[in-house]
Amino acid sequence: MNEVDVLTFFIEEGYQISPEAVEIICSHPSPEKLIRHVLERIDASVLVVGAEHIDHEPFGDNGNAPADTLIIQAAMPLFQVLLHNDRSLSDNPVSVISDISDNSTCVGEYMEFVQFFRNRYSRLSEIIRPRINARPIESLSKNRSPGMRGGRDMGEVSIIGMVSDIKSTSNGHKILEVDDPTGSFSVLVRMADKELYEQAMHLVLDEVVGFSGSLTNDGKLMIAQKIILPDLPNTMAKKSGSYGKAVLTSDVHIGSSTFMEEPWERFIDFLRGDTDNEALAAISEEVRYLVVAGDLVDGVGIYPGQEHELSIPDVYDQYRKAAEYFNEIPEHIRVIISPGNHDAVRQAEPQPKLPECIRADFPSNVTFVGNPAMVDLDGTKILIYHGRSIDDLVAAVPGVSYSAPTRGMVEMMKFRHLSPIYGSRVSIAPEKNDPFVLNQVPDILHCGHVHTLGVEWYKNVLLINSGTWQGQTEFQKRMNVVPTPCQVPVVDLVTYKTSILRFD
Ligand SMILES: [Fe+2]
Repeated sequence: MNEVDVLTFFIEEGYQISPEAVEIICSHPSPEKLIRHVLERIDASVLVVGAEHIDHEPFGDNGNAPADTLIIQAAMPLFQVLLHNDRSLSDNPVSVISDISDNSTCVGEYMEFVQFFRNRYSRLSEIIRPRINARPIESLSKNRSPGMRGGRDMGEVSIIGMVSDIKSTSNGHKILEVDDPTGSFSVLVRMADKELYEQAMHLVLDEVVGFSGSLTNDGKLMIAQKIILPDLPNTMAKKSGSYGKAVLTSDVHIGSSTFMEEPWERFIDFLRGDTDNEALAAISEEVRYLVVAGDLVDGVGIYPGQEHELSIPDVYDQYRKAAEYFNEIPEHIRVIISPGNHDAVRQAEPQPKLPECIRADFPSNVTFVGNPAMVDLDGTKILIYHGRSIDDLVAAVPGVSYSAPTRGMVEMMKFRHLSPIYGSRVSIAPEKNDPFVLNQVPDILHCGHVHTLGVEWYKNVLLINSGTWQGQTEFQKRMNVVPTPCQVPVVDLVTYKTSILRFD
């Protein structure tokens, strides 16, 4: 039995098989017997037969398989090229890890907001707590008695709090008001402490931060010596995924008069493998997933005067047009669609998935999720967030701009929160659990919203802003925002390397 025989055998049985597994089987003295044994033992959830599925034991001493082949791990790439006629949707599983859709409980009452911020505080402070010996804020003032030089007596102290105010003194120092559930305290960051001051410049309202420092003699102010963000651990291992490619896009804005229809149609052709370009055709062959991070359509009534910039004035017609395009995408490609601020769901975040009356027009290979949502694409965890909070971060954090959107996404990783600032551009629906807290670290964070492409690594998390299919709008001209339309990041799910395909 040669390699192709083994491969064909498994394909006909509905499985893919790794090169290592093929090698083990071929080098076995009775390959047919081993194949039968493997097929009897694997369960229906296995899509790819790897070395780990091959148990030689029943053949034991008689089987004569070299012992070391037993510990070879399944590795990619697979023999995809031979499989292209057999690609099916079931090869491209998706599971939704977190999503507010169908789980929303909030009505927007005052107490819900209190609970929402307490939940944020407790979850983020737990991430920081192992790294500092923090005390409740109320204990700082308890140790302060009249006439006693409280600060000196206490030495270095640490607190973890939510930043409720950021001010600059007349000398340029920063003063932060910091709250925990027991009280609030002022923290001074001196301009002369250059590194610390630079860190403080990146702090934003309502994020949860740890501070260590000493108290002033009157015990009323902490002079910061250390700022501790929740951040990602430094030990994050570089991941490798399954096989094939995931295509990321967002901000299609179907229905807008500046929607770039022809390039978009070339993109759909690419997904269909309908292209003369050999390199594109080879990539197309490997596409397993398409992820859309919001603003599928332009919507209606999103900004004043929008009606003058629409080619399709009715929002349902916009979605019907979108559905037509998605019906052209091959059925084996799993599509995930999450909404954005132009979509027909509530504006307050987290947003639920699009309603049934809209979903009904789309084919069954489309999975709808809310915003944000974490999904697992055959072993790759991707966090999809439209990215409205980038507007707030551009205004609040030096270095974050519309032309460098992934800088804002780096801040999200450091905050371990997608949208900390309350009361600015992002309106928040106070759900029981703050859905923006990053307890679980994704392999990929995928945002959109700002219409500019960006790809950046931060501590082994791949950050991608997937640009747009809309040309510059009047509003963007006024705001001096230059979009980068029709450029599509494609992530290799083996190496997580990203290539940019251009359709303009
Ligand atoms: Fe958009």
